[in-house]
Amino acid sequence: MALARAYAVGLVGLDGHVVEVEADLAQGLPGLTVIGLPDASLAEARDRVRSAVVNSGQAWPQKRITLALSPASLPKRGSGFDLALAAAVLAAAQALPAGALQGRVLLGELGLDGRVRPIPGVLPAVLTASEAGIHRVVVPLENLAEARLVPDVDARGVGSLRDLVRLLTGEEYDEVEPVRVLPEPGTDGPDMLDVAGQVVGRTAVEVAAAGGHHALLLGPPGSGKTMLAERMPGLLPALDRKAALEVTAVHSVASALPRDQPLVTRPPFQAPHHTATIASIVGGGAGIARPGAASLAHRGVLFLDEAPEFSPRALDALRQPLESGRLSITRVGGTATYPASFTLLLAANYCPCAKP
Ligand SMILES: Nc1ncnc2c1ncn2[C@@H]1O[C@H](COP(=O)(O)OP(=O)(O)O)[C@@H](O)[C@H]1O
Ligand SMILES: [Mg+2]
Repeated sequence: MALARAYAVGLVGLDGHVVEVEADLAQGLPGLTVIGLPDASLAEARDRVRSAVVNSGQAWPQKRITLALSPASLPKRGSGFDLALAAAVLAAAQALPAGALQGRVLLGELGLDGRVRPIPGVLPAVLTASEAGIHRVVVPLENLAEARLVPDVDARGVGSLRDLVRLLTGEEYDEVEPVRVLPEPGTDGPDMLDVAGQVVGRTAVEVAAAGGHHALLLGPPGSGKTMLAERMPGLLPALDRKAALEVTAVHSVASALPRDQPLVTRPPFQAPHHTATIASIVGGGAGIARPGAASLAHRGVLFLDEAPEFSPRALDALRQPLESGRLSITRVGGTATYPASFTLLLAANYCPCAKP
């Protein structure tokens, strides 16, 4: 069989699509072409995949190899397709049993030595696979806990391309997950107990937390505005399972998930500095936009300290998420929509001329 198919997932924002990776080996000058709207990092996959296959002790087929990603119209971004590309080549070269790739989604970036590296967006990708009816996924070992958050999916972790070959040929391999300690919900972060007096400010923050109201803290420097604001997330209840998955998906796409915490269970707190760019606040970047602080604060608190120091354009850009609870950002690679429903907390001195 000189033709083989593997499956991966392409993400545009949080929307995923199952991507079919076809490998065709033909007679002709040895070479490798990737077609189907790949971005720069995906085009580089050619070199990563070849080195990884060779350094994993497999023969690289001396054929004219064409790798096609479909649907071709969908922009594909990032290095998460490496594993599926390598598996498709190996299956086409009959180094993997026929049918081993059927009904499986393969996600992961390859190192030149054949190691499988973690990738962003594993949670939304596995959710996409599950919704598309594919219930077997292979992910980088370091993303295994994240993939296992999705129910009804048989998730396996691999640390190297060798492990993947062993898994697909039915051999045993070490699937040792890095040890993770789940934090106790509600015990982290600064505590309102530290605040002495300040009854009006405290009540304002408590009312804002209870009702999800936006609030502006006005006062002279040193009066405890920053201190009060940082203690607001501690007043909010832990996220329920649905909300936690939603928040985790956004953080996963932004590569902002802490390694020891596959599921974000506490309402997030984002406090961008006033010199932050608009793109880092509302989201942006080349190709397909990545989430910004406003989306990372989804179901939590977005705190703008020294609010008048932010550029008026950055403050205006928050109008859309404040009204609709989501942010749609169009870039050349497509329109990404991220949830951005947060409690906005602003702090300011009475006058910008006040001494810090
Ligand atoms: N009500 C308070 N209770 C306890 N400490 C306070 C209080 N107000 C201010 N502080 C102390 O003063 C420091 C500066 O407060 P900060 O929140 O930065 O003020 P602001 O942001 O209003 O300029 C805090 O880190 C804290 O140590
Ligand atoms: Mg302050």
